[in-house]
Amino acid sequence: MNALEVINSRQSARAVTLTEPVPSGDDLADILQAGMSAPDHGAIRPWRFKIIEGDARGRLGDIMAEALKLKDPQADQAALDNIRSKPLRSPMIVAVCAEITEDHPKVPPIEQIVATACAGQNILNAAHAKGYGAIMLSGWVAYDDHVKSGLGLEPKDAIVAFIYMGSIDGSGPVKERPLHAQYTSTWTG
Ligand SMILES: Cc1cc2nc3c(=O)[nH]c(=O)nc-3n(C[C@H](O)[C@H](O)[C@H](O)COP(=O)(O)O)c2cc1C
Repeated sequence: MNALEVINSRQSARAVTLTEPVPSGDDLADILQAGMSAPDHGAIRPWRFKIIEGDARGRLGDIMAEALKLKDPQADQAALDNIRSKPLRSPMIVAVCAEITEDHPKVPPIEQIVATACAGQNILNAAHAKGYGAIMLSGWVAYDDHVKSGLGLEPKDAIVAFIYMGSIDGSGPVKERPLHAQYTSTWTG
C-alpha cells in the first residue's frame, strides 16, 4: 500500500478482537519510530511511549481499580472487577503519554498534547501498514492522577491515549468514510 492507501484504509479494531502475535522486534521498532515523525513545535518531543504487555497489563488494571476506589470509595466489586479487566482486552497496549514542559516560552501544553496525539496517529497508521490492528482508547482513567502516577507521570502530564494493539483476522466490514467536501469550505475573508 502506498501512504494514501494506508491512511485511507485505516480503521480501528475492537480491543477484544486483538490477538497474539503482537508487533515485536523490527515491526515494533518501525511502528514506534513512526511516532517520532510527528509535527512537534520547538522539537520538545513531549511524547513517551510505554509498552504494556503480559503481566504488566494486570498491574495496570490493579492501578485502575485503586484509582476507582480513590475516586469512589463506594464502588462495588463488580465495578472494580470491570475496570481491572480493561487492560486485559488486548495482548499489548502502547500508552501514548505527554511529559509536559510547563511555562515553555513558545509552546503551550495544548500544542505538546497535539504533537503527542499526532505521534499516536502515526503509530496507528504504521501498525495498520504492517498489518496489525489497533485502537485508541481513553476513558476517565486516562485523566486520573493515580493512573498517571502508576505510569511514572506527574499530574501536569497527560495520557493522550491507550493504543490497544495486536493481530487481526482482517475479515471485518470496511468502514465507509464521509466525503471531505462535507467538512470543507473555502474561506474568502
Ligand atoms: C484520544 C482518543 C481517545 C479515544 N477514546 C475512546 C474510548 O475510550 N472509547 C471508544 O469507544 N472510542 C474511543 N476513541 C475512538 C476510537 O479510537 C475510534 O477512533 C473510533 O472507534 C472510530 O473508529 P475508526 O478509528 O475506525 O474511525 C478515542 C479516540 C481518540 C482520538
